[in-house]
Amino acid sequence: MPAPKLVNPPAPTRSALQELGEKIFNDTNLSEPRGTACASCHSAATGFANLNGSRIGVPLGSRPNAFGTRAVIHNSYSSFTPAFSFRVRDGDVDPMGGLFWDGRVDTLAQQAQGPFLAALEMNNKDAASVVAKIAASNYAGQMSAVFGADVFKDSTKAFGRVADAIAAFEATNKFQSFSSRYDQFVAGKAQLTPTETSGMNLFMDPKKGNCASCHTMNPKASGPTDNLFTDFGHYASGIPRNKSIPANANPSYFDLGLCGPQRTRPALSANVPAGVSVEKFCGTFKMPSLRNVAQRQAFMHNGFFNNLRDVVSFYASRNSDPKRWYGSAGVPNDLPAAYLANIVSDRAPFDRAASAGPALTEREIDDVLAFLKTLSDQLPPAPGAAPPAPAPAQVAMNPFGSMPPPPPPKPAAR
Ligand code: HEC
Ligand code: HEC
Repeated sequence: MPAPKLVNPPAPTRSALQELGEKIFNDTNLSEPRGTACASCHSAATGFANLNGSRIGVPLGSRPNAFGTRAVIHNSYSSFTPAFSFRVRDGDVDPMGGLFWDGRVDTLAQQAQGPFLAALEMNNKDAASVVAKIAASNYAGQMSAVFGADVFKDSTKAFGRVADAIAAFEATNKFQSFSSRYDQFVAGKAQLTPTETSGMNLFMDPKKGNCASCHTMNPKASGPTDNLFTDFGHYASGIPRNKSIPANANPSYFDLGLCGPQRTRPALSANVPAGVSVEKFCGTFKMPSLRNVAQRQAFMHNGFFNNLRDVVSFYASRNSDPKRWYGSAGVPNDLPAAYLANIVSDRAPFDRAASAGPALTEREIDDVLAFLKTLSDQLPPAPGAAPPAPAPAQVAMNPFGSMPPPPPPKPAAR
């Protein structure tokens, strides 16, 4: 497959525009009431997807009890996201690309206007009130220096400039630093431990985890798009319902991803074979890059999981132990019955008969988890902090040594 066209290729050097974008991104004065910045839900320390004080898998906005309906999708490596399209490969059709869990927006600049005005996020009344706050900020002069002295005259245009600055900042290497141990390993500058190596092999093995068939990677290639750990495809994975989301108190409320309610259903493009209906894609969500995943506090589009090991266990035992995930009925419970057939079941680890047992043993789950932890980028040093100490040498361990077996899995996260 040719490399996807980059919508927002990362820029190598920091410009005045990017520095302005950083100030806006971190400014907690730009919400209503004040207190919530973009960074409140997207900062490096939590894998670029923070809960902003919430404990239910979906974030809290600027107002008390303003819980969202979806988990935060992280915005690291988002600048590599291709525009939304339908991909046809070997007769298979998959939605792919676009920003957000449902791919509804194509560029970072378009995306950046949304959160300021979303009632469950930063809750500003309109573009003019955001622009007025920026005009009163201590970096208003930087806005004028970058965009011209009359930048604040037309607030619609100024709001567009604000979004451009944020998008430029999101394309810097602060969001895509390729500085993880895995990157050092690919570059031949570090080794993985035997446990991590076993995890990587399970991640790539088409008969075991088979994770890399979707979360694409190639340890033998070091181009920027060779190891993004996503091919940006949208799939229905049968994620269990997060009953803590306030909207889910209504049993007939379902988040159908591509089929709404956050977007209108896309028209099928001309490359899609006749006879394929958009209904086939209801309940699909975009696959995030797994880079920085170990830092995150909530996983999947509805934040059902609060623990990364549970996510790997889910992949291993969705088919063999459905009651563990969906309760006594043992049937995926976050899609209407009409769309259950959309859930992926044609490839490992999701193609197993229940009687075949889990796709990964408990020990193998631990190994995959260890591998996922190698994908965390180095955190930028705190302002004024001493330079980081050199990384400790990796100690090779025998993963099958005298360690006791791991404890039995905990019940589903929530
Ligand atoms: C209250 C929490 C919150 C705040 C504040 C917030 N976001 Fe988000 N962000 C989210 C959620 C939730 C999603 C996923 C929404 C969806 O898919 O429908 C998201 C998605 C994104 C994405 C899509 C990433 C991808 O690869 O698909 C980007 C980019 C982003 N936000 C940037 C921003 C910017 C820029 C700001 C400030 C202007 C901001 N966010 C403020 C919660 C937040
Ligand atoms: C069929 C393609 C496919 C395969 C195979 C697959 N994934 Fe995923 N992965 C996805 C999609 C799609 C999502 C988002 C699903 C959602 O939120 O509804 C996802 C989400 C995740 C997340 C959560 C990321 C986040 O930021 O919330 C983790 C972790 C993950 N996958 C790990 C794995 C591992 C480990 C394997 C192998 C055992 C694997 N995946 C196999 C498609 C796949």
